[in-house]
Amino acid sequence: VTTTFPNAPRILLVEDSDRDAFLVQTVLRNSAVVVERVSSLNAALVALRSSSFDLILTDLGLPDSTGTGTVEALLDAAGVTPVIAITGHADESAVQDLVEAGAQDYLVKGSAHAAPQLLRAVQYALQRARERHDDNRSEVLGANAKFRALIDCAEVTVVLDAHRRCVYASPSVKYMLGFDPAELIGRVLERAGTLRRKDGRTLAVQSHASPLFDDEGALTGTVLTFRDVATQRHLEQQIEQTLRLALLGQAAASTVHELSNLMTVVFQHAGLLLRRVGHDDTLAKPVTLISDAVRRAKRLSDEILRFTRPPEPSFETIDVGRWLERVAEEARALLDGRTLLLELPKFLRVSADADQLSQVILNLAANARDATPPDATVILGAARADTIPFVRERIEDAASFTAIFVRDHGTGIAAEIRERLFEPLFTTKPDGHGFGLSTSFRIVARHRGRILIDSEPGAGSTFYIVLPQ
Ligand SMILES: Nc1ncnc2c1ncn2[C@@H]1O[C@H](COP(=O)(O)OP(=O)(O)OP(=O)(O)O)[C@@H](O)[C@H]1O
Ligand SMILES: [Mg+2]
Repeated sequence: VTTTFPNAPRILLVEDSDRDAFLVQTVLRNSAVVVERVSSLNAALVALRSSSFDLILTDLGLPDSTGTGTVEALLDAAGVTPVIAITGHADESAVQDLVEAGAQDYLVKGSAHAAPQLLRAVQYALQRARERHDDNRSEVLGANAKFRALIDCAEVTVVLDAHRRCVYASPSVKYMLGFDPAELIGRVLERAGTLRRKDGRTLAVQSHASPLFDDEGALTGTVLTFRDVATQRHLEQQIEQTLRLALLGQAAASTVHELSNLMTVVFQHAGLLLRRVGHDDTLAKPVTLISDAVRRAKRLSDEILRFTRPPEPSFETIDVGRWLERVAEEARALLDGRTLLLELPKFLRVSADADQLSQVILNLAANARDATPPDATVILGAARADTIPFVRERIEDAASFTAIFVRDHGTGIAAEIRERLFEPLFTTKPDGHGFGLSTSFRIVARHRGRILIDSEPGAGSTFYIVLPQ
């Protein structure tokens, strides 16, 4: 019978009596340990050859071995794994023999103290096993600080000992898998194309394994490096998107600049004509129309130029809570009667261009309005990025970022729309221009920030503006 706790310490129980084995397993049921039971010394030796254990519990009256010889045989096969003997009777000399044979401890069957003694002994033995792990860990890593520093900054690095147990995990594992490095220590890691995150989701990874050897050339462990395939792809897409936007922006800017110059020419000559035709009404009217139209066209193109070449942000330190309170006034006016709830932080500051950032919030608020019915509620707030799970999981070093968010419970965003959100001129609205998010994207990028979107069709959307503090 094997109890299943993944990555738990493993105990080999060598016991031929079903009843006694059952008792031991019952006592250990609530300890997070895996108990593997065999019924003879021979079977135990086979088990020890194929896998490693943290503790061996053995009966001394086995069909193929009795007495202290059992302990000696097991220790020969198991090396450093502690052995606890289970005896039927505890006379002084038998105990002396057991200790001399190398048993870590002994338990007396049927005694009232057996259960607590067993638990204590197991705990003690496991503690010792953990300490050995720690020794092993410093051995595997050595005192090589350079090596350590190198793997600390790599993507995710995990060092396994010879039994594939984790003895080191780099801090970045927190971002990729959600585990603190300490939580992984001692766990057995499977070699696979996918890893399971702490929240249960699986993650596609690219991994690379290199073996570690000691001075004698014996295998002491493995260094595994992982790269999160999805994040990698996501980053590539983002870069591609940014490049595409930049190219589009450049092309648009130079075209519009050219048009603007041409319109200046038309405008000047229309003015010239107008002075010449003076009193001839049949000519003055159309020429006036040309001049007005071209002036409007020029103003429009100058607006577009401002968009494609937005001014550099002028940074100042903003108290986020107070600033959002002011922005909320303007946002309410945009929301056409929808309720605006504020989740304002205290003592949160960012360095930013308040006017430009306000423009971003108002864009997001207008989009929230368009995605919701008139009686809806929209939420505007901010918090340290590491206090928001969605953001924390997507941003490295979240504690040094601030997230400002606009949340609606409206239509949500379908995947095919999501890919194009930030493209200038992309809109799904009959009267939209598709400038809101593309402008916001640029402004936030100039603040060295990012926009994250948590959206589910039918459930609503949250736009997070994540800024360095
Ligand atoms: N909160 C949201 N919920 C659902 N869809 C949204 C939301 N925000 C943006 N979108 C989608 O993204 C598209 C682009 O948004 P963007 O703000 O860039 O342009 P727009 O709102 O259509 O036009 P403009 O902002 O120029 O008036 C929208 O047309 C809409 O389809
Ligand atoms: Mg918009």
